[in-house]
Amino acid sequence: MSRTNPYVDYARMDALHALQEPRTGSPFEMSFILLSQVKELLFRMVHLEVDQARARLREDRGEAACRALSRAVRSQRVLIGCWESMNAMPADEFLVFRDALGEASGTQSFMYRLLEFTLGNRDTAMVRSADLTAFPELRAELARPSLYDEALRYLARSGLPVPERLTEREPSAPYTADEDVERVWLTVYRDPRGHRSAYDLAERLLEVAYQFSHWRAAHLLVVERMLGGKRGSGGSDGAAWLRTINEHRFFPELWTMRSLL
Ligand code: HEM
Repeated sequence: MSRTNPYVDYARMDALHALQEPRTGSPFEMSFILLSQVKELLFRMVHLEVDQARARLREDRGEAACRALSRAVRSQRVLIGCWESMNAMPADEFLVFRDALGEASGTQSFMYRLLEFTLGNRDTAMVRSADLTAFPELRAELARPSLYDEALRYLARSGLPVPERLTEREPSAPYTADEDVERVWLTVYRDPRGHRSAYDLAERLLEVAYQFSHWRAAHLLVVERMLGGKRGSGGSDGAAWLRTINEHRFFPELWTMRSLL
């Protein structure tokens, strides 16, 4: 008898449950792999919605973009919740199978990087050049305007003074915070009723950025809990390196303009 039924067939559950190949006998390694896979799928869920939001902005459908971003936020909260499960593993149990990971590290997650690129963090130094070739979707994404690029273009089309050097910028270049954009967001927040759709978009974008930074902060705590000050399997200083990564903010002017409000 073949191992199938309509449910198993529809979403390929048999293939899904054949994907875990622990390298040691540790039951914690199985949980670690399962959680890593769950997180990868959730990165993809968030990416799906962020990509939708970007497409809706291009069509000047601000409300639909906001709905997509709200859906992204729900999946981001689930992603953060996954750390709860990860924390069930005591540090000594992690060490039982840690060596079996070799050089494998979350830094090599192309789905995570695709999500970062799509949102607007386009730091190619974070990606091994071999990975840019091995995962062509990364390079393809760099050629497209990011979600934030599309948001700024949307604001410009709605009459807000976003400079052309930003609406026409080279999409693959890393984005640097801009004082003119900060002033645009300030104008929006000083008169939310006069700029309803821009204000709603700003609030959704900030929530996505907040949840992303929250995920990074929780990851850092897990790393301190599991490794203390040890180096990472990807070759970094571990927690010390992640602390600097934690300072990055998506949509930077939405954060900095608060000091001027
Ligand atoms: C015991 C659990 C974990 C530990 C101890 C850990 C440790 C680390 C360390 C030390 C780094 C820095 C890079 C390096 O040298 O390896 C890192 C990066 C990273 N980890 Fe984890 N990690 C854990 C679980 C996870 C899980 C489950 C995911 C999601 C699938 C994940 C995703 C990432 C990502 C995406 C980065 C890169 C961050 C960035 O570049 O902004 N980690 N991890």
